[in-house]
Amino acid sequence: MELFDSHAHYNDEKFNEDKEEVLKQVYNAGSVTKLVCAGYNLDSSRKAVEIANTHDFVYATCGISPNDISDLEENISQNLELQLNQLEELAKNKKVVAIGEIGLDYYWNKENKEDQKIVFKKQIELANKLSLPIVIHTREAIFDTLEILKTNPVINKGIFHCCPLNLDLIKEGLKLGFYISFAGPITFKNSKNAVDAISAVPLDKILIETDSPYLAPEPKRGTRNNSANVIYMAQKIADVKNLKLEQVANATYQNAQTIFKLL
Ligand code: NI
Repeated sequence: MELFDSHAHYNDEKFNEDKEEVLKQVYNAGSVTKLVCAGYNLDSSRKAVEIANTHDFVYATCGISPNDISDLEENISQNLELQLNQLEELAKNKKVVAIGEIGLDYYWNKENKEDQKIVFKKQIELANKLSLPIVIHTREAIFDTLEILKTNPVINKGIFHCCPLNLDLIKEGLKLGFYISFAGPITFKNSKNAVDAISAVPLDKILIETDSPYLAPEPKRGTRNNSANVIYMAQKIADVKNLKLEQVANATYQNAQTIFKLL
């Protein structure tokens, strides 16, 4: 059985001390044979590309997340252009499989919604220019996120990463041709909508991810997350859909290969 962790952050400072060791353990454990290290600003995108270039089984995404735009805002048009040029150079690397994570976050940042929208749209343009899919981060911004995707078509589609368990978002996202990636929250005991959310996504549109080092699933909740834990997401989906673990592993692996064009 092979598993694909479609979203992790080995570029996060929580892995500064022992990133190589953790990656080696994940690889040697044998189940997770591919993973994507996601960038969220220029620095972390650069790190993600570096990690991907030094590990065959790791791929990278490059992008500026809605929670990382404060340094752009003083002179947004000029600063954004500078950063986008650097992102574009980074994203031309062969191991870069998407522009992300990008999107809108009105939970952490309510004050700069218009700037978030500008940065999101500009990066959709970049993805289209480079023929890449996008990885979307959306939190408490469902309506605006969908609105932007409808009015700014993404040619190579993409993924709702750590998808909020909101049925309207999932239904609309699927209609737009996007994949839904489930993370640790589907395993949480207090997660009310997990079963309905999982049931709403056909098997050929589901991805699984850890979002390491955050959001460790049950039964590892509260610990530093790593890609080996992606098996708990696969198991939860198998339980809800009444499938074998292997079936979910295979389907999510194929789906990831398809959207990231690794076939
Ligand atoms: Ni993330």
